[in-house]
Amino acid sequence: MADTNTLKFGNHDYPVMSGSVGPQVVDIRKLYNETGMFTYDPGFTSTASCESALTYIDGDEGILLHRGYPIGQLAEQSSFMEVSYLLLNGELPSKGELDEFTHTITRHTMLHEQLATFYRGFRRDAHPMAIMCGVVGALSAFYHDSTDINDPHQRMIASHRLIAKMPTIAAMAYKYSVGQPFLYPDNSLSYTGNFLRMTFGVPAEPYEVNPIVERALDRIFILHADHEQNASTSTVRLAGSSGANPFACIAAGIACLWGPAHGGANEAALNMLREIGTPDRIPEFIARAKDKNDPFRLMGFGHRVYKNYDPRATVMQQTVREVFDALKVSDPVFEVALQLEHMALNDPYFVEKKLFPNVDFYSGVILSAIGFPTTMFTALFALARTVGWVAQWNEMISDPAQKIGRPRQLYTGPTQRDYTAIGQR
Ligand code: CMC
Repeated sequence: MADTNTLKFGNHDYPVMSGSVGPQVVDIRKLYNETGMFTYDPGFTSTASCESALTYIDGDEGILLHRGYPIGQLAEQSSFMEVSYLLLNGELPSKGELDEFTHTITRHTMLHEQLATFYRGFRRDAHPMAIMCGVVGALSAFYHDSTDINDPHQRMIASHRLIAKMPTIAAMAYKYSVGQPFLYPDNSLSYTGNFLRMTFGVPAEPYEVNPIVERALDRIFILHADHEQNASTSTVRLAGSSGANPFACIAAGIACLWGPAHGGANEAALNMLREIGTPDRIPEFIARAKDKNDPFRLMGFGHRVYKNYDPRATVMQQTVREVFDALKVSDPVFEVALQLEHMALNDPYFVEKKLFPNVDFYSGVILSAIGFPTTMFTALFALARTVGWVAQWNEMISDPAQKIGRPRQLYTGPTQRDYTAIGQR
């Protein structure tokens, strides 16, 4: 919404807009036409790329709200299905609405049977994220009745399908890697319980879902559901801005999420904690993280937006204890994590740069205790983030101000020159 405030640049005034909360933004859409200049902002550190009513983050205060509700309250009191409904529809559901939504998602969990053969084209040691990129992108070849992005009904069906099928796709990627048969979904189980069974169950015997593990994983899904305009969400929006179908857009988001600076950080964080191994080696790794000549960084530390404790990390730390107690696990890696956090938070380098543990610092420890191999961690992140991606994608398509995303550049290459024949170079 436009304010009466303006920012003067040269002879031109640019409107200053206010959201419901958070920093104001300067509307520079006319800047190029009026001044012939672009703005320069690699990494979009000062650029709002869209209007959004989904998620709000105050990085200095460590606040994360979905549709206004604090993440801590959602993680403690809600369920992933309810948070998914909230993100997609804007309000918490009534009991009837939640039952109906859960029923719809549950009935979309099966995959087209032919997709099972698609998996067999991959090597057994393929990274699950490679499989997820391929299989999710391929969904558009199987579900033609939900690819018309101008039809809100088809958009909603595509959204439900993506949320529902992601656990099946991720579990099948795991099963394929260990050489076990794929398990069909069981509609009597919850969204998360079903995923646990499809991952760890075998056809030879019944699988009993551990309610504490189910609750912990559901909470991890809530914590990863959305995070405003992060790299993968912006990728989904950019891909979608050209009119690409929803399955292709989500596959693009999965590809972006895979990177170690984004979703791959939980895998990298656990690998790092295992490499450290014992608390006495922590100072050596802290010294490396501070050394400008060493590319090593403390994985699971620091965040583009949070300059305070990531509120999701607080919930994660509590959840580690619950899962360890329930499964009677004791993993030295948790002790290393706690001590590393303590030492880093008392080190001036990390204090001055406002580097705090992020959501990924503890999530790997929990997922490993549950039994997931590290390569599955980012696949789980993708599973949970799918609802955020589709909600943001739907919001973008419904936005009348939406245009194809097309950034400009500061060109520093050669100016025009004449082609020379190969023998004369
Ligand atoms: N260890 C050591 N130093 C760090 C770290 C770290 N983990 N993170 C940032 N720094 C330093 C960095 O060297 C730089 O120092 P200087 O100003 O002297 O050059 C300063 O802090 C600012 O870093 P930056 O890279 O400019 O900050 P950014 O906002 O571009 O990067 C980040 C954010 C998350 C990519 C970065 O903190 C990082 O690489 N962290 C490790 C990877 C990680 O845990 N990623 C998960 C993010 S949370 C999950 C998600 O939402 O996807």
